[in-house]
Amino acid sequence: MITVHDKQFRLYMTEQEIRDAVTRVASEISRDLGDKKPLFCPVLTGSYMFMSDLARALDFDAEMCFVKYSSYSGMSSTGVVKTVIPFPDKCRGRHVVIVEDIIDSGVTVETMLSELRKKEPAGVSIATFLFKPDAFVKDFKIDYVGRSIPNDFIVGYGLDYDDKGRSYKDIYVVSEV
Ligand code: IMP
Ligand code: MG
Repeated sequence: MITVHDKQFRLYMTEQEIRDAVTRVASEISRDLGDKKPLFCPVLTGSYMFMSDLARALDFDAEMCFVKYSSYSGMSSTGVVKTVIPFPDKCRGRHVVIVEDIIDSGVTVETMLSELRKKEPAGVSIATFLFKPDAFVKDFKIDYVGRSIPNDFIVGYGLDYDDKGRSYKDIYVVSEV
């Protein structure tokens, strides 16, 4: 058990399980996109750990450019997505891979997709380490998923609860809400 702010969390996914999932996603991306010279756009802050592991597991040299979009406060989405660092102009004509830590309602990535389309990329893929299918209310296709999880709040491996809990190497789920 760990405590983050006022909540208790229990172990949900170990470092080894995370590594196995990252390795699988990396081989899928290597197979599908290796010859497209994709531009990876990981979303700060949560995706930094996933992107770091993913980059080392790909079988090609990944070019990346971090963006920052935020919508969460505490344990729920505000529904309003703020652009903090937008997609770079060099997305134009490139195959762009949006790299997320977690897709919950899908509101954040949907907003990002409409911003990204204005840059006229050659193609777009979406990779997320975690996906909450029961919370997802959008209809865009998610190309790469590390693991689908129930609609519970989690921390660790980049994911935070009000800026705490990001640096754990395992993933933890809240044990009471
Ligand atoms: P969405 O817009 O509802 O899909 O939310 C996506 C963003 O909310 C993610 O990029 C995370 O930053 C944050 N988020 C969603 N679920 C969780 C969670 O269980 N723990 C921590 N952050 C989360
Ligand atoms: Mg995020």
